[in-house]
Amino acid sequence: MTDHIVAEVSEIEDGERILVELKGREVGVFYLDGEYYAFANWCAHQGGPWCEGTLTGTFEGEFNRETLETRLNWVKEGKILNCPWHGWEYDIKTGTCLSRRSVKLPSYPVRVEDGKIIVTL
Ligand code: FES
Repeated sequence: MTDHIVAEVSEIEDGERILVELKGREVGVFYLDGEYYAFANWCAHQGGPWCEGTLTGTFEGEFNRETLETRLNWVKEGKILNCPWHGWEYDIKTGTCLSRRSVKLPSYPVRVEDGKIIVTL
């Protein structure tokens, strides 16, 4: 495992990302709600460039057993990343696929030291 300085903290605004190449792998480093996340730029579906997708929200279903009514609520705005190839949705904070909860994207530890963002890979 090697530490890699990927950027200064001032280079990534909240809700933004950068793509870097580390050890021959493309890695997306995201900054969201005061935390950094790093993932391989690889989608579990067909290997698409997941980290280049759109940050958006998603619909969550709600079912009322008494009235038998269903409702869709828009949730997690800005915290879900859609893969640009076929739209699989992943939670940016965990890398978990929303439609296949057992699928989780490869992630890497990220920390900040002296204003530098460091990814360990
Ligand atoms: S490769 Fe990502 S959704 Fe198909």
